[in-house]
Amino acid sequence: MTISPYGAMRSHGAGTLGASDVGTEVRLAGWVDTRRDHGGVLFVDLRDRTGVVQLVLDPAAAATAAELGHRLRDEWVVRVVGTVRARPDGMRNPRIPTGDVEIAVAGLEVLSEARTPPFPVADDVEVGEELRLHHRYVDLRRPRMARNLALRARALSVIRRVMERHGFLEVETPQLTRATPEGARDFLVPSRVRPRETYALPQSPQLFKQLLMVAGVERYFQIARCFRDEDSRADRQPEFTQLDVELSFGDEADVQDLMEELHVELLADCLGVDVPRPFPRLAYAEAMRRFGTDKPDLRYGLELADLSEVLAGTGAAVLAGALADGGSVVALAVPADAGTLSRKDLDGWAEWARARGAGGLAWGVVEAGEGAPTLRSPLAKFLTAEEVAGIVATCGAGVGDTVLMAAGPTAPTRELMGALRVALAEALDLVPDGEWRFLWVVEPPMFDAATDRAGRPTGGWTPNHHPFTSPAPDWIDRFEEDPGTATARGYDLVLNGIELGSGSIRIHDAEVQRRVFRFLGIGDAEAEEKFGFLLRGLAHGVPPHGGIATGLDRTIMLLAGEDTIRDVIAFPKTQSGACPLTDAPAPYDAAALAELGLRLAPEQG
Ligand code: AMO
Repeated sequence: MTISPYGAMRSHGAGTLGASDVGTEVRLAGWVDTRRDHGGVLFVDLRDRTGVVQLVLDPAAAATAAELGHRLRDEWVVRVVGTVRARPDGMRNPRIPTGDVEIAVAGLEVLSEARTPPFPVADDVEVGEELRLHHRYVDLRRPRMARNLALRARALSVIRRVMERHGFLEVETPQLTRATPEGARDFLVPSRVRPRETYALPQSPQLFKQLLMVAGVERYFQIARCFRDEDSRADRQPEFTQLDVELSFGDEADVQDLMEELHVELLADCLGVDVPRPFPRLAYAEAMRRFGTDKPDLRYGLELADLSEVLAGTGAAVLAGALADGGSVVALAVPADAGTLSRKDLDGWAEWARARGAGGLAWGVVEAGEGAPTLRSPLAKFLTAEEVAGIVATCGAGVGDTVLMAAGPTAPTRELMGALRVALAEALDLVPDGEWRFLWVVEPPMFDAATDRAGRPTGGWTPNHHPFTSPAPDWIDRFEEDPGTATARGYDLVLNGIELGSGSIRIHDAEVQRRVFRFLGIGDAEAEEKFGFLLRGLAHGVPPHGGIATGLDRTIMLLAGEDTIRDVIAFPKTQSGACPLTDAPAPYDAAALAELGLRLAPEQG
């Protein structure tokens, strides 16, 4: 038996019909997209997943169908039989693929009536997100959303094809599990069978995939659902999907080559775009220095320059203070051809910087000068000619360019200027369309200085990636001695300024793993309690292994040209973590809670 491509009720997809079908009798079914009544003759656009075709209901040709047709409303579901015919000259519609033809309807049946839709099923209508998500089944009918779902499915199929080509085994890992340390809060699931005990939903399959390596799977991948109780953002959801990968007996190059092949194929297959390989590599420290971020967007310039040396000993007090405190002066030059920044713009950016905790922004416009360039700047009178020449040269600035400078503690000042770089590029329209700039950020630090919830340093350390990442060979025996400098065998995949994925070569030696735990303040007893299963695994014959996980939602967001991952997830949560469709999260029945050994605390305040 052949499976009918459009279901037993239909002979064709509405959007598949064209001139070569003229004369064919068709059975179609779908939604009423639009209706136009032309004095008795009714034109209906019928929509299904394949597209839209025009139906003609003519009382002279099919009286019953035409009469029923006048009852139709938008979004009703109907079935028709009719004949494809060429549209008369002058009536063709080049804007839709089926615009050369129409269906002369002989019979019409209403399969389902519909309430007036909460918003038009069209792309060019602004609708509040809450309403869109509340009626997501209508929202997903909009062509753009339908296209995003199809793109996601296609990308998944490309991923599986590439992973299978290289012998990776798709293995599912548990959703009801123990806490996994990816740095966010856990979602908990209480257990009825073991009251007062809870499962945690996985923040990632990290430990299971490592144990699959111990198990001899050698090449694993999973389209894995992950859960993190953290604030939602445009590229963050509490529930999201990773392409999770792990391999044994390999090194960084194996993981990176595989990911490059995969992403090149995704772009070629889904968008017809060619991306060159290999992707460039940038050391973490260099990324921070030149771009103020570990996920630089390489589609535009505006690179940061460090003026600390040039300005050592400067008389400009606003800059000198930061240098005396061991900080830096970080600058970037806005090229003249990006548009002149007015005094008001500059004040606006200074305000922008202050709102982010900076003292302000100093500025100077490079002018030709006599013999050597000069700076038109409120700071000019405090700067020597040598300093001005140094600033201009270090920033690589030309005449007419505007140099923006911030002074302060090195790391936060770089980050601020990195954020300014991104904001300026957007404001000045410097981000080119249709560019795909992949990048590997490598040689990350092993640890970052730990901070408390208010962002104050605690004096302790946290892993820069996660505590299972192997120290670089040079550091494996002595990372404790200089934890701020020790580097790890980690790598991040970045695309157009967005972190797509993160991975590393792992620790496969139980003793090194224990040392890392100890250094992070996780004593042997606590390590045993939390990660005993991993440590046990590491005692049973471990292949050297490593891997990566990429955020699938982010990948699809970029492929689809969307600004938020909510637009590429069928049923996402709002910014505040709610699902307006189902109204989750919702209060739970007290009796059922009692069964779980739980009682709700009285509301505070
Ligand atoms: P990491 O925590 O960096 O690494 O996550 C990997 C990738 O997952 C995506 N991602 C998210 N996407 C949407 N919403 C979120 N809340 C969210 N959090 C993360 C990002 C990120 O780069 N186990 C390690 C990987 C490994 O070492 O192999 C891990 O989960 O695109």
